[in-house]
Amino acid sequence: MEKILDLISAEVMGAFEACGYDVAYGKTGISNRPDLCEYQCNGAMAAKKAYQKAPIVIAQEVAAKLQDSEAFEEVSAVNPGFINIRVSGDFLADYLLKMQSDKNLSVEKAKEPKTIVLDYGGANVAKPLHVGHLRSAIIGESVKRIARFVGHKVIGDVHLGDWGLQMGLIITEVRQRQPELPYFDENFTGEYPQEAPFTLSQLEEIYPTASAKSKEDAAYREAALEATYQLQQGKRGYQALWNHIMQISIPDLKRNYGRLNVDFDLWKGESDAKPYIADMVQRMREEGYAYEDQGALVVDVKEDSDAKEIPPCIILKSDGAFLYATTDLATIVERMELYQPDEILYLTDKRQEMHFTQVFRCARKTGLVKDDTKLSFLGFGTMNGKDGKPFKTREGGVMRLETLIADINAEMYRKITENHEVDPQEARETAEIVGLSAIKYGDLSNQASKDYVFDMDKFTSFEGNTGPYILYTIVRIKSILNKYRENGGSVQKGHILAPANESEKSLMMELVKFNSTIEQAFAETAPHRICAFIYDLANAFNRFYHETRILGEENAAQQTSWIELLDLTREVLETSIDLLGFEAPERM
Ligand code: ARG
Repeated sequence: MEKILDLISAEVMGAFEACGYDVAYGKTGISNRPDLCEYQCNGAMAAKKAYQKAPIVIAQEVAAKLQDSEAFEEVSAVNPGFINIRVSGDFLADYLLKMQSDKNLSVEKAKEPKTIVLDYGGANVAKPLHVGHLRSAIIGESVKRIARFVGHKVIGDVHLGDWGLQMGLIITEVRQRQPELPYFDENFTGEYPQEAPFTLSQLEEIYPTASAKSKEDAAYREAALEATYQLQQGKRGYQALWNHIMQISIPDLKRNYGRLNVDFDLWKGESDAKPYIADMVQRMREEGYAYEDQGALVVDVKEDSDAKEIPPCIILKSDGAFLYATTDLATIVERMELYQPDEILYLTDKRQEMHFTQVFRCARKTGLVKDDTKLSFLGFGTMNGKDGKPFKTREGGVMRLETLIADINAEMYRKITENHEVDPQEARETAEIVGLSAIKYGDLSNQASKDYVFDMDKFTSFEGNTGPYILYTIVRIKSILNKYRENGGSVQKGHILAPANESEKSLMMELVKFNSTIEQAFAETAPHRICAFIYDLANAFNRFYHETRILGEENAAQQTSWIELLDLTREVLETSIDLLGFEAPERM
C-alpha cells in the first residue's frame, strides 16, 4: 500500500502544479508542531527564489487550491510560508480500512527480493553463553524477521566459534587428566569410543580451568596452541574429541537460543570453512595478493583515503595456523558458492569492527565476492550494569545468560503474583513470556550501536517504555475484545468510521505509520524504530481507551467501528512484537 505521507504529498504536489509551480515543492512531512497541525509542507519557502515571490503568497495560493480536497479537513497558510494541514477523518478511516484488508497490514514486499546471509548469534562452543552473545542473538533475530517481512530471503547462520583456541585448550586439559585415552595414542588406528569422555557440566568446568591455566603457564599455553594447530590440520584423535565436544554443546546451545525465541537456519561454524581454506590461500598467493611478512602470510588492505592505519589482514600465522580472519574469509567463499547472497550482514560487538573492515577489504580485493555483493557489519554497543561498566554478576563474575533469564523471570513472577491471585503454574508461564519481552525490548529499544544499561527494575516495569507495558496494552485490548465476544459480538473487518474524537484520531494517526516504520527499520537495520513506534501507538491507544466507553456504547455502528479499530491496533502491535522476537500472553 502506498504510504500515507506519499498520498498526502501527492495531493499537495498536485496543488503546487495547478498553481504553476514545480511539483517537487509539494513534498509534505509530519508536523513538528502537533499542537498546530498534523502535516506540514515547507515548499513555499523553498520556491521563493525560483519564483521571486513571497513564500506566504505561494502558500496562500496552494492552500486555496486545497480547500476542496477530500483528504484534508483544514489547510492553512501561516507566516512566513508554512502550509499547515489537518487530514480528514474519512481519509484516515479509508486508509485504515485498506490496511485492515491487506494481508501484510499495508507493508509492501520488496520488488526485487534479495538473498541475505545473516551472521548472528556467534556463540563459542564449549564456552558458556554469556550476555555478550545476548545482543547479537536478540538484534539478529529481529533484523532477520524484519527483512523477511518486507520480502527478502534471509538465511540466518549462527556461525559458531568452534575452531579456535578454546578447542585446543579443552583437548590439552582432557589430555592432562586422562592421558590414557585412545585420542592421545599416536598408534591408535581403531574406532574411537561413541561416548564422550566428559559430560556437559564437566565440559563447562574444563574450559574455564584450562583457560585460567593457560594464562599462568606458558608451556600449557604452548601445548594448547599446538593442539589447536593439530586439530586444524585434521589429527584423527583430536578430530574425534572435537566431535564429542560439538555433540554435547550444540543441543545445549539450541536449548538456550530456543528459550530466547531465537532460531537459525544454519548451524554452521568456523570449522565449516575448512574445505575452502587451502584453495583460497593458494589463489591469494598465486595472484600476488598474499605475501610473507615475518613468517606470516598477509594481504595489504590499507587504502590511501584511510584516516587511521588499517593493518594488513593476516591469513596464516607464522606457524601455519588459521586465524579468525582465515575462517571468516573462507566462510565468505563458502557462502558465495552455496547461497550466492546479494548481501552478507554480520552482527557482533562493535569492538570487532576493525576485524570486519580488514576481512571485507581483503575479500573484495582478492575477488572472493562479486562487485555487487554487499558486505555489511552492524556493530553493537555493550550491555552495561548500573555502574556503567560491562554487566557482571553480583559477585563480579561474567553473567551467564541462563542466570540473567532466571533473574528476570523471578522478578516478573514476583510482580505478576504481587497484587492478585493467580495459578502459580500459569503465573510462571506468563512470567517467562513477559520476562523475555523485558529483556528483548530493553535491548532493542536502544539504537544498536549504543551501549545501554541493563536496569532490571526499569525493564520489568509495567509502566513506561518497556516490553511489559507493550504486552500489558495488548492484553488489555484482547480482554476487551473477549468481553465483546462473550456478550455476543463478533469481531469483523470493513466497518471503521471516521474518528469520533481527538484521541481516536491520534490513535489512527499512529496506526497509519506502520508501513513507513517497518520500511525504515529495514533500510536502517534498526529495530529500535519499531520499539519507538509501538510505544507511541500503545500510548495513543491507552489515552483513547481511558476517554472512551467502548463496551457501553449504544450506537451499534460506532461500537463496531471501535471494536475493529481495537482489533487492528492489536494486530499491528502483535505483528510488531513478532518482528522484535517476542509475543504476548493471553492474560497477565
Ligand atoms: N564467535 C565470535 C565471538 O564470540 C563471533 C562470531 C561472529 N561472526 C563471524 N563471522 N565472525 O566473538
